[in-house]
Amino acid sequence: MENLLRNFFLFLSKNNTLTRLAKKYGLRLGASRFVAGETVDQAVEVIKDLNQKGLVVTVDYLGEFVNSEAEANNMTDQTIKTIEAIGKEKLNAQVSLKLTSLGLDISEELVMSNFRRIIDKAREHQVFVTIDMEDYERCEKTLQIYKTFRKEYEHLGTVIQAYLYRAEDDIKDLDTYSASLRLVKGAYKESSEVAFPEKKDVDDNFKKIIRIHMENGNFTAVATHDDAIIEYTKQLVEELDIPKEKYEFQMLYGIRTDRQMELSEQGYPLRVYVPYGTDWYGYYMRRLAERPANVWFLIKNLFKR
Ligand code: FDA
Repeated sequence: MENLLRNFFLFLSKNNTLTRLAKKYGLRLGASRFVAGETVDQAVEVIKDLNQKGLVVTVDYLGEFVNSEAEANNMTDQTIKTIEAIGKEKLNAQVSLKLTSLGLDISEELVMSNFRRIIDKAREHQVFVTIDMEDYERCEKTLQIYKTFRKEYEHLGTVIQAYLYRAEDDIKDLDTYSASLRLVKGAYKESSEVAFPEKKDVDDNFKKIIRIHMENGNFTAVATHDDAIIEYTKQLVEELDIPKEKYEFQMLYGIRTDRQMELSEQGYPLRVYVPYGTDWYGYYMRRLAERPANVWFLIKNLFKR
Protein backbone atom coordinates (compact mmCIF):
# COMPACT_ATOMS: atom_id res chain seq x y z
CA MET A 1 0.00 0.00 0.00
CA GLU A 2 2.80 2.40 1.00
CA ASN A 3 4.62 1.72 -2.26
CA LEU A 4 1.43 2.26 -4.22
CA LEU A 5 0.88 5.65 -2.61
CA ARG A 6 4.52 6.59 -3.16
CA ASN A 7 4.23 5.83 -6.90
CA PHE A 8 0.90 7.64 -7.07
CA PHE A 9 2.35 10.86 -5.61
CA LEU A 10 5.46 10.65 -7.76
CA PHE A 11 3.15 10.27 -10.77
CA LEU A 12 1.11 13.30 -9.66
CA SER A 13 4.29 15.33 -9.11
CA LYS A 14 4.98 15.19 -12.86
CA ASN A 15 1.54 16.42 -13.94
CA ASN A 16 1.90 19.60 -15.94
CA THR A 17 -1.75 20.69 -15.75
CA LEU A 18 -1.92 20.29 -11.98
CA THR A 19 1.36 22.22 -11.69
CA ARG A 20 -0.18 25.11 -13.66
CA LEU A 21 -3.40 25.05 -11.63
CA ALA A 22 -1.48 25.01 -8.36
CA LYS A 23 0.48 28.09 -9.48
CA LYS A 24 -2.75 29.90 -10.29
CA TYR A 25 -4.54 29.16 -7.03
CA GLY A 26 -1.66 29.71 -4.58
CA LEU A 27 -0.37 27.70 -1.64
CA ARG A 28 -3.10 25.16 -0.82
CA LEU A 29 -3.70 21.69 0.61
CA GLY A 30 -1.36 22.23 3.53
CA ALA A 31 1.65 22.98 1.34
CA SER A 32 2.54 25.96 3.54
CA ARG A 33 3.78 23.45 6.09
CA PHE A 34 6.64 22.61 3.69
CA VAL A 35 6.93 25.80 1.59
CA ALA A 36 8.01 29.13 3.12
CA GLY A 37 5.61 31.33 1.12
CA GLU A 38 5.25 32.56 -2.42
CA THR A 39 7.35 35.74 -2.33
CA VAL A 40 10.96 36.50 -1.45
CA ASP A 41 9.79 38.73 1.43
CA GLN A 42 7.88 35.84 2.98
CA ALA A 43 10.91 33.57 2.59
CA VAL A 44 13.16 36.21 4.20
CA GLU A 45 10.93 36.30 7.29
CA VAL A 46 11.08 32.50 7.62
CA ILE A 47 14.87 32.50 7.20
CA LYS A 48 15.31 35.26 9.80
CA ASP A 49 13.27 33.23 12.24
CA LEU A 50 15.35 30.07 11.60
CA ASN A 51 18.62 32.03 11.88
CA GLN A 52 17.46 33.46 15.20
CA LYS A 53 16.93 29.91 16.43
CA GLY A 54 20.53 29.08 15.52
CA LEU A 55 19.74 27.21 12.29
CA VAL A 56 21.39 28.06 8.98
CA VAL A 57 19.55 27.79 5.67
CA THR A 58 19.74 26.94 2.00
CA VAL A 59 16.93 28.59 0.05
CA ASP A 60 15.38 27.35 -3.17
CA TYR A 61 13.14 29.37 -5.49
CA LEU A 62 10.87 26.59 -6.75
CA GLY A 63 10.42 26.00 -10.46
CA GLU A 64 9.45 22.92 -12.46
CA PHE A 65 8.49 22.16 -16.08
CA VAL A 66 10.38 25.16 -17.36
CA ASN A 67 10.12 24.83 -21.12
CA SER A 68 10.57 28.28 -22.57
CA GLU A 69 13.56 30.57 -22.63
CA ALA A 70 11.52 33.37 -21.05
CA GLU A 71 10.56 31.16 -18.09
CA ALA A 72 14.17 30.02 -17.61
CA ASN A 73 15.36 33.63 -17.66
CA ASN A 74 12.66 34.59 -15.17
CA MET A 75 13.71 31.74 -12.85
CA THR A 76 17.29 33.01 -13.07
CA ASP A 77 16.19 36.56 -12.21
CA GLN A 78 14.23 35.26 -9.20
CA THR A 79 17.22 33.31 -7.90
CA ILE A 80 19.38 36.42 -8.32
CA LYS A 81 16.79 38.40 -6.32
CA THR A 82 17.02 35.74 -3.63
CA ILE A 83 20.81 36.09 -3.50
CA GLU A 84 20.51 39.89 -3.31
CA ALA A 85 18.00 39.55 -0.46
CA ILE A 86 20.41 37.27 1.42
CA GLY A 87 23.14 39.88 0.99
CA LYS A 88 20.96 42.86 1.89
CA GLU A 89 19.37 41.24 4.95
CA LYS A 90 22.67 39.62 6.00
CA LEU A 91 20.99 36.24 6.30
CA ASN A 92 22.95 33.13 7.18
CA ALA A 93 21.78 31.39 4.04
CA GLN A 94 22.97 29.67 0.90
CA VAL A 95 21.07 28.97 -2.32
CA SER A 96 19.95 25.70 -3.92
CA LEU A 97 18.66 25.41 -7.48
CA LYS A 98 17.65 22.96 -10.18
CA LEU A 99 19.29 23.21 -13.58
CA THR A 100 16.03 22.33 -15.38
CA SER A 101 14.58 25.55 -13.99
CA LEU A 102 17.40 27.49 -15.71
CA GLY A 103 16.79 25.83 -19.07
CA LEU A 104 18.69 22.49 -18.94
CA ASP A 105 16.03 20.83 -21.11
CA ILE A 106 15.99 23.70 -23.59
CA SER A 107 19.62 24.23 -24.56
CA GLU A 108 23.07 23.90 -23.09
CA GLU A 109 23.91 27.45 -24.06
CA LEU A 110 20.89 28.80 -22.16
CA VAL A 111 21.49 26.84 -18.95
CA MET A 112 25.18 27.71 -18.94
CA SER A 113 24.61 31.43 -19.42
CA ASN A 114 21.84 31.54 -16.80
CA PHE A 115 23.93 29.60 -14.34
CA ARG A 116 26.89 31.92 -14.89
CA ARG A 117 24.71 34.95 -14.12
CA ILE A 118 23.70 33.30 -10.83
CA ILE A 119 27.11 32.09 -9.74
CA ASP A 120 28.68 35.49 -10.49
CA LYS A 121 26.04 37.24 -8.38
CA ALA A 122 26.53 34.65 -5.64
CA ARG A 123 30.28 35.27 -5.64
CA GLU A 124 29.66 39.00 -5.34
CA HIS A 125 27.57 38.38 -2.18
CA GLN A 126 29.67 35.42 -0.93
CA VAL A 127 26.70 33.08 -1.11
CA PHE A 128 27.34 29.35 -1.58
CA VAL A 129 25.31 27.64 -4.33
CA THR A 130 24.26 23.97 -4.43
CA ILE A 131 23.03 22.41 -7.65
CA ASP A 132 20.26 19.99 -6.64
CA MET A 133 20.21 16.60 -8.34
CA GLU A 134 17.11 15.76 -10.36
CA ASP A 135 16.13 12.49 -12.05
CA TYR A 136 18.61 10.00 -13.53
CA GLU A 137 18.12 11.30 -17.07
CA ARG A 138 19.65 14.62 -15.99
CA CYS A 139 22.33 13.26 -13.65
CA GLU A 140 25.27 13.07 -16.08
CA LYS A 141 24.54 16.48 -17.63
CA THR A 142 24.21 18.05 -14.18
CA LEU A 143 27.55 16.63 -13.06
CA GLN A 144 29.26 17.79 -16.26
CA ILE A 145 28.00 21.34 -15.71
CA TYR A 146 29.00 21.21 -12.04
CA LYS A 147 32.54 20.14 -12.96
CA THR A 148 32.87 22.82 -15.64
CA PHE A 149 31.98 25.59 -13.19
CA ARG A 150 33.81 24.07 -10.23
CA LYS A 151 37.10 24.63 -12.05
CA GLU A 152 36.38 28.37 -11.89
CA TYR A 153 34.29 28.83 -8.73
CA GLU A 154 34.94 27.83 -5.11
CA HIS A 155 31.51 28.44 -3.60
CA LEU A 156 29.74 25.67 -5.48
CA GLY A 157 28.44 22.23 -4.50
CA THR A 158 26.14 19.55 -5.83
CA VAL A 159 24.23 16.45 -4.72
CA ILE A 160 24.82 12.72 -4.94
CA GLN A 161 21.89 10.28 -4.56
CA ALA A 162 22.68 7.08 -2.64
CA TYR A 163 19.99 5.07 -4.47
CA LEU A 164 21.96 5.25 -7.74
CA TYR A 165 24.42 2.45 -8.51
CA ARG A 166 26.79 5.08 -9.92
CA ALA A 167 26.93 7.07 -6.64
CA GLU A 168 30.16 5.53 -5.35
CA ASP A 169 32.01 6.10 -8.66
CA ASP A 170 30.74 9.69 -8.78
CA ILE A 171 31.94 10.35 -5.24
CA LYS A 172 35.41 9.06 -6.15
CA ASP A 173 35.49 11.09 -9.37
CA LEU A 174 34.33 14.27 -7.60
CA ASP A 175 37.12 13.90 -5.06
CA THR A 176 39.48 15.21 -7.75
CA TYR A 177 37.41 18.43 -7.69
CA SER A 178 37.49 18.61 -3.84
CA ALA A 179 33.72 18.77 -4.21
CA SER A 180 31.43 20.01 -1.47
CA LEU A 181 28.62 17.50 -1.63
CA ARG A 182 25.17 17.06 -0.19
CA LEU A 183 24.48 13.35 0.13
CA VAL A 184 20.85 12.16 -0.01
CA LYS A 185 18.90 8.93 -0.50
CA GLY A 186 17.23 10.21 -3.72
CA ALA A 187 13.68 11.44 -4.29
CA TYR A 188 12.71 10.36 -7.82
CA LYS A 189 11.18 7.20 -9.24
CA GLU A 190 14.02 5.32 -10.95
CA SER A 191 14.21 1.91 -12.59
CA SER A 192 16.09 -1.01 -11.03
CA GLU A 193 18.49 -0.76 -13.96
CA VAL A 194 19.99 2.38 -12.46
CA ALA A 195 18.96 2.43 -8.79
CA PHE A 196 18.75 0.04 -5.83
CA PRO A 197 15.12 -1.03 -5.52
CA GLU A 198 15.45 -2.11 -1.84
CA LYS A 199 15.49 0.47 0.97
CA LYS A 200 18.11 -1.52 2.89
CA ASP A 201 20.56 -1.38 -0.02
CA VAL A 202 19.98 2.37 -0.40
CA ASP A 203 20.67 2.89 3.32
CA ASP A 204 23.84 0.75 3.15
CA ASN A 205 25.08 2.65 0.13
CA PHE A 206 24.23 5.97 1.83
CA LYS A 207 26.46 5.03 4.78
CA LYS A 208 29.19 3.85 2.43
CA ILE A 209 29.35 7.10 0.43
CA ILE A 210 29.20 9.27 3.57
CA ARG A 211 32.26 7.42 4.87
CA ILE A 212 34.19 7.65 1.57
CA HIS A 213 33.51 11.36 1.15
CA MET A 214 34.39 12.19 4.76
CA GLU A 215 37.53 10.06 4.68
CA ASN A 216 38.59 11.95 1.54
CA GLY A 217 38.46 15.12 3.63
CA ASN A 218 35.80 16.90 1.58
CA PHE A 219 32.88 18.92 2.94
CA THR A 220 29.95 16.55 3.50
CA ALA A 221 26.35 17.59 4.04
CA VAL A 222 24.30 14.61 5.19
CA ALA A 223 20.73 15.45 4.18
CA THR A 224 18.31 13.07 5.86
CA HIS A 225 15.54 12.75 8.43
CA ASP A 226 16.48 9.15 9.14
CA ASP A 227 17.66 8.61 12.72
CA ALA A 228 19.76 5.55 11.82
CA ILE A 229 21.76 7.56 9.26
CA ILE A 230 22.04 10.52 11.65
CA GLU A 231 23.43 8.25 14.40
CA TYR A 232 25.83 6.64 11.94
CA THR A 233 27.09 10.08 10.89
CA LYS A 234 27.55 11.21 14.49
CA GLN A 235 29.70 8.14 15.20
CA LEU A 236 31.69 8.63 12.02
CA VAL A 237 32.37 12.28 12.84
CA GLU A 238 33.79 11.15 16.16
CA GLU A 239 35.73 8.21 14.74
CA LEU A 240 37.34 10.28 11.96
CA ASP A 241 37.61 13.41 14.12
CA ILE A 242 35.84 15.55 11.51
CA PRO A 243 35.82 19.26 12.43
CA LYS A 244 32.56 21.25 12.31
CA GLU A 245 33.69 23.22 9.25
CA LYS A 246 33.84 19.96 7.28
CA TYR A 247 30.30 18.59 7.67
CA GLU A 248 26.70 19.42 8.48
CA PHE A 249 23.28 17.84 8.71
CA GLN A 250 20.56 19.13 6.43
CA MET A 251 16.80 18.72 6.71
CA LEU A 252 13.79 20.04 4.85
CA TYR A 253 11.71 22.93 6.14
CA GLY A 254 8.68 21.65 8.03
CA ILE A 255 9.95 18.08 8.46
CA ARG A 256 11.07 16.86 11.88
CA THR A 257 11.40 20.42 13.18
CA ASP A 258 11.88 19.15 16.74
CA ARG A 259 14.78 16.93 15.63
CA GLN A 260 16.37 19.87 13.80
CA MET A 261 16.37 21.92 17.01
CA GLU A 262 17.59 18.99 19.07
CA LEU A 263 20.61 18.36 16.82
CA SER A 264 21.45 22.04 16.72
CA GLU A 265 21.22 22.33 20.51
CA GLN A 266 23.52 19.31 20.81
CA GLY A 267 26.07 21.36 18.88
CA TYR A 268 25.77 19.74 15.45
CA PRO A 269 25.77 22.07 12.42
CA LEU A 270 22.24 21.98 10.99
CA ARG A 271 21.04 23.57 7.75
CA VAL A 272 17.38 23.81 6.79
CA TYR A 273 16.38 23.61 3.12
CA VAL A 274 13.77 26.34 2.65
CA PRO A 275 11.78 26.28 -0.60
CA TYR A 276 9.54 29.15 -1.66
CA GLY A 277 7.70 30.37 -4.75
CA THR A 278 4.44 29.85 -6.60
CA ASP A 279 5.62 26.60 -8.20
CA TRP A 280 5.19 24.51 -5.03
CA TYR A 281 3.11 21.64 -6.39
CA GLY A 282 5.75 19.10 -7.60
CA TYR A 283 7.92 19.66 -4.54
CA TYR A 284 4.93 19.09 -2.24
CA MET A 285 3.87 15.88 -4.04
CA ARG A 286 7.42 14.46 -3.66
CA ARG A 287 7.30 15.15 0.10
CA LEU A 288 3.98 13.30 0.29
CA ALA A 289 5.47 10.42 -1.67
CA GLU A 290 8.28 10.12 0.90
CA ARG A 291 5.85 9.77 3.74
CA PRO A 292 2.33 8.75 2.80
CA ALA A 293 1.33 9.32 6.47
CA ASN A 294 1.32 12.98 5.50
CA VAL A 295 -1.63 12.25 3.24
CA TRP A 296 -3.88 12.56 6.29
CA PHE A 297 -2.46 15.99 6.74
CA LEU A 298 -3.39 16.80 3.14
CA ILE A 299 -6.91 15.36 3.51
CA LYS A 300 -7.51 17.46 6.64
CA ASN A 301 -6.45 20.54 4.68
CA LEU A 302 -8.73 19.69 1.77
CA PHE A 303 -11.60 20.61 4.03
CA LYS A 304 -10.07 23.88 5.13
CA ARG A 305 -10.67 27.00 3.08
P1 FDA B 1 13.47 8.28 4.85
O1 FDA B 1 12.57 8.73 3.74
O2 FDA B 1 13.83 6.85 4.93
O3 FDA B 1 12.82 8.76 6.21
C1 FDA B 1 13.32 8.42 7.48
C2 FDA B 1 12.39 8.96 8.56
O4 FDA B 1 12.32 10.37 8.48
C3 FDA B 1 10.95 8.52 8.43
O5 FDA B 1 10.75 7.28 9.03
C4 FDA B 1 10.21 9.65 9.09
O6 FDA B 1 10.23 9.49 10.50
C5 FDA B 1 11.01 10.85 8.72
N1 FDA B 1 10.49 11.51 7.48
C6 FDA B 1 10.99 11.35 6.24
N2 FDA B 1 10.30 12.08 5.33
C7 FDA B 1 9.34 12.69 6.00
C8 FDA B 1 8.28 13.56 5.61
N3 FDA B 1 8.10 13.94 4.33
N4 FDA B 1 7.46 14.02 6.59
C9 FDA B 1 7.65 13.67 7.87
N5 FDA B 1 8.61 12.82 8.30
C10 FDA B 1 9.44 12.34 7.39
N6 FDA B 1 16.65 14.36 -3.26
C11 FDA B 1 17.10 14.39 -4.54
O7 FDA B 1 16.85 13.46 -5.30
N7 FDA B 1 17.84 15.46 -4.99
C12 FDA B 1 18.18 16.50 -4.17
O8 FDA B 1 18.85 17.42 -4.61
C13 FDA B 1 17.71 16.46 -2.82
N8 FDA B 1 17.99 17.47 -1.94
C14 FDA B 1 17.63 17.34 -0.62
C15 FDA B 1 18.01 18.30 0.32
C16 FDA B 1 17.73 18.12 1.67
C17 FDA B 1 18.17 19.15 2.66
C18 FDA B 1 17.05 16.95 2.11
C19 FDA B 1 16.77 16.70 3.56
C20 FDA B 1 16.63 16.02 1.18
C21 FDA B 1 16.89 16.21 -0.18
N9 FDA B 1 16.47 15.27 -1.11
C22 FDA B 1 16.94 15.36 -2.41
C23 FDA B 1 15.44 14.28 -0.75
C24 FDA B 1 16.05 12.94 -0.36
O9 FDA B 1 16.58 12.30 -1.49
C25 FDA B 1 14.98 12.03 0.27
O10 FDA B 1 13.96 11.81 -0.66
C26 FDA B 1 14.36 12.58 1.54
O11 FDA B 1 15.31 13.23 2.34
C27 FDA B 1 13.75 11.43 2.37
O12 FDA B 1 14.72 10.51 2.75
P2 FDA B 1 15.35 10.43 4.24
O13 FDA B 1 16.81 10.29 4.11
O14 FDA B 1 14.89 11.59 5.02
O15 FDA B 1 14.86 9.06 4.84
